[in-house]
Amino acid sequence: MQILIDQDLCKKDDICIESCPNRIIGSSPENGFPMIIPGLEMLCISCGHCVSVCPHGALRHPNAPVEDCPPIQKELVITKEQAAQFLRARRSIRVYKDAPVERETIQELIEIAGHAPTGGNSQLVRWIVIADREKVHGLSALTIEWMRQKLVEHPYQFRYPPEFLKLVISGWEGGEDPILRKAPALIVATSPAVMATDPTLALSYFELAATAMGLGTCWAGLLKAALLEYEPAMAAIGLTNDTSIFFYPLMLGYPKYKYRLLPRRNPPKIRWV
Ligand SMILES: Cc1cc2nc3c(=O)[nH]c(=O)nc-3n(C[C@H](O)[C@H](O)[C@H](O)COP(=O)(O)O)c2cc1C
Repeated sequence: MQILIDQDLCKKDDICIESCPNRIIGSSPENGFPMIIPGLEMLCISCGHCVSVCPHGALRHPNAPVEDCPPIQKELVITKEQAAQFLRARRSIRVYKDAPVERETIQELIEIAGHAPTGGNSQLVRWIVIADREKVHGLSALTIEWMRQKLVEHPYQFRYPPEFLKLVISGWEGGEDPILRKAPALIVATSPAVMATDPTLALSYFELAATAMGLGTCWAGLLKAALLEYEPAMAAIGLTNDTSIFFYPLMLGYPKYKYRLLPRRNPPKIRWV
């Protein structure tokens, strides 16, 4: 594997050399043009930085075909104010319209989420999609089943106090869904092995993109707790310990209500060291 340099365009400015995460690009001793240092090819993480950062379009890389790297459009760059309001206005949505989320929309969101950072550009995040309200509701039922067991077996040695469990269970018995909020869809991002942070980051991207597309999301912490230890819940979505060591579920649907104000958050606690 070798990069291709258009010698008419390359200015030998070393930008690709400096930007390569593993510094596997160097200057050719023969002509000074960039090249992958012989013997280090296997350290390429296919991140596409060298191709994307070259201001002259002089570099081609077999792992990052330029036709798959569209140019950044200046007119689509958002301002600081737009970004700040967008990020502050995202809300956890707990009341959904009775409308399904189209498969193509979910597909599009997952593709955007694939641009979240991953350790070493490993891109090991895998997705489980449940786009059926009844099936999602079934997972809530399993979580309630698990909570009922916990309440009987270990009322005081469990992360949730019995008062909380009783409240959730009585909400369920009253026809509410305090677990997955009658969401029409559930997305689970998973990763094997050591990439603990990657599914969470991918879901963060997913939820921000979903917000921009008029959808609402909510992290499903109660279901996550059940999935960690309750086999029937794991089996219901085909989550296995060997392929999905790290995971998080996220509710998805069209919000029934719009938020008008930006709620306050605590001032940050920072230690500048
Ligand atoms: C890891 C995580 C787990 C969460 N689990 C739940 C949950 O099980 N049910 C729920 O209604 N909200 C859940 N939330 C949403 C939080 O309650 C919410 O983020 C917080 O109240 C702030 O509100 P906002 O997201 O609208 O800013 C979870 C959030 C995170 C980050």
